[in-house]
Amino acid sequence: MERRKVTIQDLQAKTEKGERFTMLTAYDYPTAVIVDKAGIDAILVGDSLAMVVLGLPNTVSVTVDEMLHHCRAVARGAQYALLVGDMPFMSYQVDVKEAVRNAGRFLKEGNMDVVKLEGGANMAPVSKAIVDAGIPVMGHIGLTPQTVSKLGGFKVQGKDSTAAQQIIDDALALEDAGCFSIVLEAIPDRLAKLISEKLNIPTIGIGAGPDCDAQVLVTHDMVGLFDRFTPKFVKRYVNIHEQMVEALKQYKAEVASGAFPGPEHCFTIKDDILESLY
Ligand code: KIV
Repeated sequence: MERRKVTIQDLQAKTEKGERFTMLTAYDYPTAVIVDKAGIDAILVGDSLAMVVLGLPNTVSVTVDEMLHHCRAVARGAQYALLVGDMPFMSYQVDVKEAVRNAGRFLKEGNMDVVKLEGGANMAPVSKAIVDAGIPVMGHIGLTPQTVSKLGGFKVQGKDSTAAQQIIDDALALEDAGCFSIVLEAIPDRLAKLISEKLNIPTIGIGAGPDCDAQVLVTHDMVGLFDRFTPKFVKRYVNIHEQMVEALKQYKAEVASGAFPGPEHCFTIKDDILESLY
């Protein structure tokens, strides 16, 4: 079957049919090409790039301009996946108009298809304004890394009944605001199941168990490119970090021994031209 660009309607249709879909992060052209080739439905240019690409301690300091730089690179590499631009901290919290303008930049300058923003019922009016402007919004609740200081660290959320009820209310408020899907991060699996049953829009889990309508991971975590720590909810499918270190060590050894470059890596010159030079 001929492949075509994934739309938000395709994701909603999959959920209605009970088919789980996938999202992974990418921050540059080669990763976007790889993720797209693997048939992943959506690519998130996440503000996690602050940590896994820029080496920062959290996601708080990344700016809209930095995000857009990476969004453009990803958009050049991905032909099929739905492209999700992550709105960074303080690009949508201060003022609704500013939020709509910044969301628009992700589509106009970053070539994204939709935006994602963190927050529950408190962010419902902002989400609604962005949706009303014609920009699809993916919500993100539970562990919201942009407010890590307020949460007291990267911790599982919704463990007691008050906190769990708040997350349910947040999910319903975002659905009412017109979000087309919601990321549920680091919440108990059975709470995620309950929310997924209550909502008509897809839930996308990360550390939220198997009963969400879709799953998302940070690609650098699942392929072992990020070495600082691996969250409990990540499955490491391959260790690219180790493979790259081994490859680079081999290169160093081959340069030292003269095994690289070999004749197949060299350009030739005709004998008579070389003789004339001597
Ligand atoms: O920035 C990101 O990568 C995210 C995912 C953890 C969902 O928001």
